[in-house]
Amino acid sequence: MPTLSAQQQIATLEREKAELRVELEQARKLAYLGMMATTVAHEVSQPIHNIKAATDVTLHRLKKKYPFDSTEPIFEHIYHQLELINRQTERLRKIIENFRQFARWNKNHREFINLNQLLEQTIETIFAAQFRNNNIKLVQQLESEPLMVYANPFLLQEIFSILLSNAIEAIETQKLPTVWVTTFRSLNSNEAGFRIEDNGSGLAPEYRQHLFEPFMSTKTTEKGTGLGLHLAYQMVQDLKGRLNYQDHSGGGAGFIVILPTEER
Ligand SMILES: Nc1ncnc2c1ncn2[C@@H]1O[C@H](COP(=O)(O)OP(=O)(O)O)[C@@H](O)[C@H]1O
Ligand SMILES: [Mg+2]
Repeated sequence: MPTLSAQQQIATLEREKAELRVELEQARKLAYLGMMATTVAHEVSQPIHNIKAATDVTLHRLKKKYPFDSTEPIFEHIYHQLELINRQTERLRKIIENFRQFARWNKNHREFINLNQLLEQTIETIFAAQFRNNNIKLVQQLESEPLMVYANPFLLQEIFSILLSNAIEAIETQKLPTVWVTTFRSLNSNEAGFRIEDNGSGLAPEYRQHLFEPFMSTKTTEKGTGLGLHLAYQMVQDLKGRLNYQDHSGGGAGFIVILPTEER
């Protein structure tokens, strides 16, 4: 019946229009977020710099006037607290610097990187304390030979960090929280990759098809933004690779990143 089919067509068009509107809204939100990130990083770096300069000067003067073996316990306390402020501002400075690098990431830059080494370094520098403090067991199954991929080291570290943070958050309430990090090469050796698996609660089926969409989060607004996996997905695409989800046999979630080992 022609009228029905015309009606159906209209319904389809209406649906498509609504979907496009949602996509547009999300693209706007993302662009806005990028702008905000850059502005905040810029604005915050100045006060951080000032705090650091003020504590440095105070520490310096204090040490000059009252040498470290001063018998007054209050001085020891003040030294200690000032040094703590210094370390924390240094940490903030690094976070902001990372943020800025991220904002100006040059996704076109790629080079040959040893995947095993990059993963180990990221764990060591960013995640070691979290693993220790939360009693998380880390099982590393890395290829014995250096595993070279053609990628951007900064993006690669971001992707890895996003997946690892999600894994850590997913196993918070487990009795024996475990994360597996595995590297592998493909059979025809023009691809290599890594897998991050955990023994958390895994992923409910209804979330699977929306997993890589922006703002898809099952966490409270303080804990989750729903942007991590979306960004990771885009970054893997920029690197001409693939990001897939796979249930972990032990019950949790698993994410697989596959990257080219040659210029593509
Ligand atoms: N390792 C994991 N185990 C279980 N669920 C996960 C895991 N990683 C991601 N998810 C699910 O995917 C959602 C989106 O993840 P993400 O994009 O990083 O956003 P966020 O972590 O801010 O919620 C999470 O809210 C969670 O429901
Ligand atoms: Mg996340």
